[in-house]
Amino acid sequence: MNIKKLPSSRRGFPKKINSGAKHFPATKKWNCSYFLESMKSEKVRALPFSKIENRTPLFNQIHILKNQSQIEIESILLHRYGEYVIREEVQILKNNQTLLEDINYTRPYGSLENLDFFHSFFFAPPGYTVEPHTDDLSLYLFQIKGKKVVRVVAPEFNNSVYRLSPQTTLEISMKEGLTLDQALLLSKQSKNWSISEANFFNIDLSRFDKMKNVDIYETELNGGDILEIPQGWWHSTFTDEESFAFNVAKNKL
Ligand SMILES: [Fe+2]
Repeated sequence: MNIKKLPSSRRGFPKKINSGAKHFPATKKWNCSYFLESMKSEKVRALPFSKIENRTPLFNQIHILKNQSQIEIESILLHRYGEYVIREEVQILKNNQTLLEDINYTRPYGSLENLDFFHSFFFAPPGYTVEPHTDDLSLYLFQIKGKKVVRVVAPEFNNSVYRLSPQTTLEISMKEGLTLDQALLLSKQSKNWSISEANFFNIDLSRFDKMKNVDIYETELNGGDILEIPQGWWHSTFTDEESFAFNVAKNKL
């Protein structure tokens, strides 16, 4: 396994656009107290943040499905800070015109009607991993605040990254106590958005020995940076610092 620095411009590779979103008002405004002010005591979809070491990506997904619930924003950002993460949540942006204005969503990131489809919002304290997966679409990751490390792997390594089949996903998740509906949802997701069983930030080579041959590229995003990820590339993220971010599907811009 080789961990290399992401090249600054290589054809077909993810591309970091340094300070590409620096002009967004959000990079200056977004922090916990601003969100508390803007959102008052709204409830948002969040899940308990758990730092269970070596939890495999599938178990992260099961954790999300089993434990995600509506929590007051004050709990997440104030009273129980560090205990929750918000991920893949669009409603926060949709419900708050001021937050949308902070990210210039109309120029050129689409209109309110298609927010559901291509926006997602993330808030995480330091130390949170989004497990390795591929998406259906090419993406832009907009890092608004905080340092986040991203590791990516090219689709040419698909046979070495321990991609879970929908059948395996279904079997394991039923064993782990998901309801049939939850298990089917997860299985459907893993068909459209493949999940890798290996943890890109802590690879157990005794279990995932084919990862030895895989090139992993790493880059660091800070507030105002954008990362363009081509469709089919595996990606996993780790927040080094408290992190505010959102994603947009590229071909919907
Ligand atoms: Fe993704």
